Amino acid sequence: MANVAGQPKVVLGIDIGGTGIKGAPVNVETGELLAERERIDTPKPATPEAVAKVVKQLVEHFKWTGPIGVTFPAIVRNGVTLSAANVDKSWINAPAEQIIADVVGQPIKLLNDADAAGLAEQVFGAAKGRMGKVLVITLGTGIGSALIVDGKLITNTEFGHLIFPKDGIAEHYCSGKVKDDLDLKWKDFNPRLNGYLQHLDLLLSPDFVIIGGGISKKAEKFVPEMKGIRFEVAGATLQNDAGIVGAALEAAYTYGVLTPAS
Ligand code: BGC
Repeated sequence: MANVAGQPKVVLGIDIGGTGIKGAPVNVETGELLAERERIDTPKPATPEAVAKVVKQLVEHFKWTGPIGVTFPAIVRNGVTLSAANVDKSWINAPAEQIIADVVGQPIKLLNDADAAGLAEQVFGAAKGRMGKVLVITLGTGIGSALIVDGKLITNTEFGHLIFPKDGIAEHYCSGKVKDDLDLKWKDFNPRLNGYLQHLDLLLSPDFVIIGGGISKKAEKFVPEMKGIRFEVAGATLQNDAGIVGAALEAAYTYGVLTPAS
């Protein structure tokens, strides 16, 4: 598949996670996935080279030629991965975008997974058309964050690593994984999330906070329980596809398939 005049603008989006690597071609004008998602287990150990080979397998699965957007759950600055909280430590300081592009043999745009989710929510989801300060928080294995100010994404905010509540970090207190590992019921988990959101409120005064990650499927269990905050809260709309769609969008902007709306 590739882009042809008069046809939908399509980019391949790939979402690298700790347990699975998923991809699908995305119509970047509508956010629609144009084929069923394909998922391959994340290799062990998940080094950049091993992960790059899986990305290549996905590219071959879709017989894709053209730009490819790829997410990664770490700080990504100018194509270099700078952290590795829940992934193999060999990603720290790795020129990951180049490593993947070399293995795949096609142009790659690499970005943080929560930034991708934020971009997708802003263009096609719950934050569509919203001005002001929008914060997308993803609750999964870790906690990811995307800050969007008047429609512009401020990348690599890493609010999951805020020291909260006292001597640990937020993602060790109220991520989706913490909820599962400690088998927390909603009545026990919600006060944790609420405390974290109150902390974010004090630090950032956002206008709107969108909660993504696996948990967002159950938004009705936590959204009404959030108290003492001065912003609107909602569950993410794109849920599982946000990473794939956001990755495709960012690659579309980078490689001139699409011009970002100003
Ligand atoms: C990482 C972030 C990532 C988040 C969600 C955190 O541990 O530091 O970069 O966005 O997990 O995957």
